[in-house]
Amino acid sequence: MALFDPDPPAPPVGARAVAELVTIETFLLARQPAEATGVLTSLLDDIALAGKLIANRTRRAGLTEMLGASGEINPQGEEQKQLDVYADDVMTAMLARGGRVCAIVSEERPEPTIIADGGRYVVVHDPLDGSSNIDSNVSVGTIFGVFERDGDASGDLQDRDWLRPGRDLVAAGYILYGTSTMMVYSTGDGVHAFTLDPEVGEFLLTWDDMRFPETPAYYSFNHASSPLWDLGVGSFVQWLNRPDTPRLSQRYIGSAVADFHRNLLHGGIFGYPAETGLPAGKLRLLYEAAPLAYLAEQAGGLGSDGRRRLLDIEPDDLHQRTPVFVGDRALVTRLQEMVEQSSVT
Ligand code: AHG
Ligand code: MN
Ligand code: MN
Repeated sequence: MALFDPDPPAPPVGARAVAELVTIETFLLARQPAEATGVLTSLLDDIALAGKLIANRTRRAGLTEMLGASGEINPQGEEQKQLDVYADDVMTAMLARGGRVCAIVSEERPEPTIIADGGRYVVVHDPLDGSSNIDSNVSVGTIFGVFERDGDASGDLQDRDWLRPGRDLVAAGYILYGTSTMMVYSTGDGVHAFTLDPEVGEFLLTWDDMRFPETPAYYSFNHASSPLWDLGVGSFVQWLNRPDTPRLSQRYIGSAVADFHRNLLHGGIFGYPAETGLPAGKLRLLYEAAPLAYLAEQAGGLGSDGRRRLLDIEPDDLHQRTPVFVGDRALVTRLQEMVEQSSVT
């Protein structure tokens, strides 16, 4: 038996494994519409650079004493980790330069950061998702979404420039700091994944046009909270476990971005429902739920709050929370039906 298998991993269903060395920059340039100015392309490249810096620091977290709490509390009243603060600083610094971005909304900042003389793009982000997992050396990620200011917008920025439904996104994606670092993004033209080659320092195209597989493999809910869920969500998970339902395995990392990524590759649904005492769940609409829902739809899946398409929800607060069910379209639709049935009976 060979000790070393040189074959690359099989591509997810629908995607093409790419053998040539295509950098993220080359790919972005090749895919951008003829009329594009290249500003969005450069902006995604800025985010890729932020991802490289954050990956570098997460890999050395134990060595550089970046583990543990920062001693500060974020706008949601949650304890900030040192890496939350570092990742937020890096994202802010990379996005603030270059004149492409006029405002940045971050999980870690109470108000939007306004960039004087910035461009037309507004970026929303969770600089480090799953940060409670950092100290245990488990995958974390950066989630981002990009809006463009309305064509007729001029003058001072206003709430309407960032309190926007996910259907207005012009790009979204994440960088996953896992066994390797991967950037997955969409600009409305499919979902593409790039792996950071640490030797070369470049994100190289791994899969383009990713789609959820026909047959899902996983469901990802925190079962410990099941006594606190609404009836419909409970019935859905019970249905998943019936002997006559196609069998799924339960996997839950506790980093939404990593749970989403695994389910994108292998098929499945991730859920963070409302709970007694947490009526809107835990995840944030603008910079967690909406970007993941955008990617899901681009890969043939769906994102829902249990009743509505996540991309249609109009936020009225920067840090608004929402229940999230995202992934395989048939499973999310089935969950919506069971939530609906439970409310009429
Ligand atoms: P963040 O680290 O950005 O605050 O997000 C953590 C979120 C999300 O990534 C994950 O799905 C969820 O918290 C896990 O929460 P539970 O431990 O309650 O399951
Ligand atoms: Mn998060
Ligand atoms: Mn976070």
